[in-house]
Amino acid sequence: MDELKILEQADTLARGYTAGTDNRRAFPDGKALAELLGFDEPLSNEGHPEAETLTMLDQLGSPATVASNGPNYYGYVFGACLPVAAGAERLALAWDQCASSADTSPAADAIERKAGQWVLEILGLPQESAVAFGTSATACGLSCLAAARAELLARQGWDFVQDGLMDAPEIKVVVSETAHVTIRKALQILGFGWARVIKAPVDAHGRIRPGRLPPLDASTILILQAGEVNTGEFDPFNEIMPLAKAAKAWVHIDGAFGLWARAAPALRALTDGVEAADSWTTDGHKWLNTPYDGAMAICRDADALARVMNSDAAYSSASASAQKT
Ligand SMILES: Cc1ncc(COP(=O)(O)O)c(C=O)c1O
Repeated sequence: MDELKILEQADTLARGYTAGTDNRRAFPDGKALAELLGFDEPLSNEGHPEAETLTMLDQLGSPATVASNGPNYYGYVFGACLPVAAGAERLALAWDQCASSADTSPAADAIERKAGQWVLEILGLPQESAVAFGTSATACGLSCLAAARAELLARQGWDFVQDGLMDAPEIKVVVSETAHVTIRKALQILGFGWARVIKAPVDAHGRIRPGRLPPLDASTILILQAGEVNTGEFDPFNEIMPLAKAAKAWVHIDGAFGLWARAAPALRALTDGVEAADSWTTDGHKWLNTPYDGAMAICRDADALARVMNSDAAYSSASASAQKT
């Protein structure tokens, strides 16, 4: 089967799936779930013919998806992706770029740079910030927190990239009692240890109480939330940010969905003060209705993020391509 034919078949199936989401229940029924057993076949040397593989995916897989891409889904903080975004994703799949630098994809590099500028403009964040596109708020939060730690260590004369963590000065982390589980995961991966992370008490709406904020200093990463996942609430940034700035703490904002309130005049006031933070994460695949997986790591000190995330190979230098463009 030639390549275009198989892509046409996939496109027909995808269009049929999308059209069907209007009338589908959100969670698959028992029959659809039972039929997933159809995937349980032994690994074979021959495999199935290409067209049969796509048909099988559609017949067994499509009915057992959660129809989050349709009008009957009201779960969590995400929903259907916009048709133009789905179309762009189809095109990006055809391009199949290694989008790590301008050397491997000038198009991806140019588009990301422009999109990054626009994101900063829309969100009213400092124009000098780096905007890195990643798979999720989880991964982007992890990147920002890695930059935060390295930078706070650098301010104490410790080179994290060269010397790692052994014998490094201690960095404290203060999070909301209601910090999202993925912040906890990022801290865990970074080696902070949940028991050692300091929890800031919250009110009945899940907002940090400024009056009960634990002590901050220049060795502290403070993580605030623009959009608490259970209540939708925002930490009182206007009250907390001056305290954090005076202490020279690094402030990271987890705005996975809620940071986009800045683009809505009626809601923007909820985020007043976040512009003074040092780093922010937000998702495309939630309130922006882009397809999975798309998120942004935004860091005021672009070099701080680059220092901790970039590394050069003999055949490809991230620093060189950054300079070139
Ligand atoms: C406040 C908050 N932070 C982080 C995340 C994690 O986002 P992602 O699924 O993109 O990793 C979520 C997801 O719902 C969230 O609501």
